[in-house]
Amino acid sequence: MTTTLFTPLKLKNGFEIKNRFMKAATSETLGSADNRPTPPLNNLYRTWAKGGTGLIITGNVMVDDTAKGEFGNVVVEDDRDLRALKNWASSVTDNDGAIFMQLNHPGKQSPRTMSKTPVAPSVVPMEGSNAFAFNNPRALNRSEIKDIIQKFINAAVVAQKAGFSGVEIHAAHGYLLNQFLSPHDNRRVDEYGGSLENRMRILEEIYLGMREKVGADFPIALKINSSDLSADGFSEADSIKVIQKMDQLGIDLIEISGGNYENPLVQGIGKGAFFIDYAKKIKQMIDAPIAVTGGFSTAEGMENAIDSDGTDIVGLARPLVMMPDIPNLMKAGRFHKIDLHYLSTGLKPLDKKVGSLVGLSFYQQQMDRTAHGKSTQRDTENAWGALGFSFKRQGLSALIPQRG
Ligand SMILES: Cc1cc2nc3c(=O)[nH]c(=O)nc-3n(C[C@H](O)[C@H](O)[C@H](O)COP(=O)(O)O)c2cc1C
Repeated sequence: MTTTLFTPLKLKNGFEIKNRFMKAATSETLGSADNRPTPPLNNLYRTWAKGGTGLIITGNVMVDDTAKGEFGNVVVEDDRDLRALKNWASSVTDNDGAIFMQLNHPGKQSPRTMSKTPVAPSVVPMEGSNAFAFNNPRALNRSEIKDIIQKFINAAVVAQKAGFSGVEIHAAHGYLLNQFLSPHDNRRVDEYGGSLENRMRILEEIYLGMREKVGADFPIALKINSSDLSADGFSEADSIKVIQKMDQLGIDLIEISGGNYENPLVQGIGKGAFFIDYAKKIKQMIDAPIAVTGGFSTAEGMENAIDSDGTDIVGLARPLVMMPDIPNLMKAGRFHKIDLHYLSTGLKPLDKKVGSLVGLSFYQQQMDRTAHGKSTQRDTENAWGALGFSFKRQGLSALIPQRG
């Protein structure tokens, strides 16, 4: 039988995803001022589920209240929001979809508006044009690392209790687990640094700790970079080894992404599926299915990726933010492509300064619109609406970037 985008996928543990579409995580920033889940989240996720996507990954949920990545993050440390989390999960599971909660800790990529002294594997400051937005980190001690591992595990247990279908560990995009994997960021000389085996120890301990608590039937996925795309960061060779090891340990799904927020590949436009060649190679080496995220925009591109066995699942972030019902449209033969636009303020020097900010604000604004029953603004190329949206919610702190 030929596999199509509408062929169900069975994970190793028997968990079935009804088709090959995955909504990749996009931080909704719809949490309350005290970082709790809110009803608009349920509306947004119900819309995605009703749009036909088989697997929906939540925007990153923070596992540690003292370490947040963005304004409006949801934090899960314990049971206090179980009811709200149940509503969030059932907005998808009641509508024939699966929902995985993405779990994250930002490490040093926590902006200075949120963290006076962020924590990291080692004292290596953020770099790049947005570095001014981050305070210098301090190095975690071993008992703090153990605490963070426990926080990831606790959050997974709460997710399971709340009815989420699974969890995804976020080890990509320059956040804490990616920092541990990267020899550039991780200069530790204890058992959490140095060799690759040591640099991935935190990830392994998180995974094994979760598995022990949630059991074999509860899917645990991993989002990981194909490489950091920098000379001394986490390399492709390392990434392959980590994926192989996690596969041996029993991970249920690997989502491949790449780079970090300094690198345009995380958010490029019009370059095609970025990581498909890498994924093809990996697919030959492991048992777990693979999701590739980044750059899909055409029906043909998505179909080809599945037909050519380049990936088991097609991950879509911005396209599904803009068109939440792509799978249904495609089934009806009514989706061909989506155009994502560069937004401009009309002033080139200003665009250069606020471009990365606008990129995120715009998609947050569109998720907020969907969450409130409004249609998305697919034809807009004007950045001012998105900037206005962020200022209205965050005041002047909207000017401080929240990613590297
Ligand atoms: C507004 C926005 C928020 C994002 N938030 C997350 C996140 O919380 N976790 C994550 O793993 N990736 C996040 N991403 C990255 C996407 O999951 C995805 O890897 C990237 O957008 C490339 O996929 P695309 O070309 O389909 O948009 C975000 C992207 C955008 C645009």
